[in-house]
Amino acid sequence: MALEMFRKEETLAMRKKLIGQSCRLFYSDDPVKIVRARGQYLYDENGKRYLDCISNVQHVGHCHPSITQAATTQMELLNANSRFLHDNIVQYADRLAATLPDKLRVFYFVNSGSEANDLALRLAHQYTQHEDVIVLDHAYHGHLTSLIDISPYKFQKLTGQKEWVHVAPIPDIYRGIFREDHPNPAQAYADTVKDVIDKVHQKGRKVSAFFSESLPSVGGQILLPKGYSTKVAEYVRSAGGVFVADEVQTGFGRVGSHFWAFQLQGDDFSPDIVTMGKPMGNGHPLSCVATTAEIAGAFTANGVEYFNTFGGNPVSCAIGLAVLDVIEKEDLRGNSSRVGGHLLDRLRQLQTKHPIIGDVRGVGLFVGLEMVTDKEQRTPATDAAAQVVRRLKEEYICVSTDGPWENIVKFKPPMCFSMEDADLVADRIHHILTDMERSHQKLDSEDLRLTGVILEEDKGRNAEVFNTTNLTDPYHN
Ligand SMILES: Cc1ncc(COP(=O)(O)O)c(C=O)c1O
Repeated sequence: MALEMFRKEETLAMRKKLIGQSCRLFYSDDPVKIVRARGQYLYDENGKRYLDCISNVQHVGHCHPSITQAATTQMELLNANSRFLHDNIVQYADRLAATLPDKLRVFYFVNSGSEANDLALRLAHQYTQHEDVIVLDHAYHGHLTSLIDISPYKFQKLTGQKEWVHVAPIPDIYRGIFREDHPNPAQAYADTVKDVIDKVHQKGRKVSAFFSESLPSVGGQILLPKGYSTKVAEYVRSAGGVFVADEVQTGFGRVGSHFWAFQLQGDDFSPDIVTMGKPMGNGHPLSCVATTAEIAGAFTANGVEYFNTFGGNPVSCAIGLAVLDVIEKEDLRGNSSRVGGHLLDRLRQLQTKHPIIGDVRGVGLFVGLEMVTDKEQRTPATDAAAQVVRRLKEEYICVSTDGPWENIVKFKPPMCFSMEDADLVADRIHHILTDMERSHQKLDSEDLRLTGVILEEDKGRNAEVFNTTNLTDPYHN
């Protein structure tokens, strides 16, 4: 079978003509055409291999043979409407239940993270009979109209904030309102949610749900301070609302130590609704909402059937089961802890060498490297982060940026990412940042020379800086 029908330029021209231009490409100046993939590697039309640090969806690895086999076997046998009785859906729900707190025992299968969050909104509304929703600043929860409404990342650029939506500060201890030097940032940030609840009540309104990613990703690879969610859940529940944990990016063992990122908050915390998606089907559209019997009961009580044409079909559930098997058999959570820990160590070492690295944070294979032009002020280094992404692409490594200022280089690779991959990424970032610092110094000293104020003691250093044309590059020899 031919892997390529069109030359890259033709594909690009047809895409520009036929596909909505708001569907953006990675590296829009010079997009990459990928024709096959395996594990953590992507291959372009010329067979060139890229290391993939972006694809958290292909969770257990691109084109994993066990997943392909499970899909093919089930597809050859049956893929029927989920209104017929079938073992896969119940077996899969049972396996998911074993990973979750006891109270989360009822499942609804859907086809995307957006569908899952939209259903969570409906469940919360039906159960609480309240309307208002509290979200974290810069959050993204999906592309449906209902979710754009609760995604500050989107609505701030579009229709603005609806009266039923309320935004709490993001608990970012590097850049937020309470930082790493605060004695109890978890409590302080949770109290900001309490303030929001009080304001909702002052307006005569009532809280239906608090929505939060367990580790805000679009918000900038943020780790919620431990204890935050427990406290917020307490405030939200006493206002009659429910806590929705969006695990669409972070679930299925990405954090290594736990299956779900909300479990990092401690055993005393359990959400009322968990939404899941991306990694669940390893690229097959499979998503889910897990909730309590009480919330599901209230949803049933409205007397209206919930029907989802594709959700929970036998093929999707066979794939979901195979993903769970591979996570276990290949100890991908253990791998995530080991390799993620190593990547964090290597990036933290780089932080001591490169002042442009303001912060390195993460857990398992959910890692962010925050770039700043000024360590004291923590001024976002947006252009430099874009430059790192571009330069890494030239080295055949795919990463992306996130955060309100797009200055956080993020890593969320397939979970089979190896120690060697982590070393390669860290080595190349070191090389790129060293190179960027040298050209920066060179530019600075040229400016000084032009204004005639170059300092005598800098002359030796600059001579060394200018003499770097033969920098050795271990990967390009
Ligand atoms: C945290 C989070 N929730 C929900 C969604 C929406 O998922 P989907 O694109 O599958 O609809 C996304 C997608 O990026 C996401 O990152």
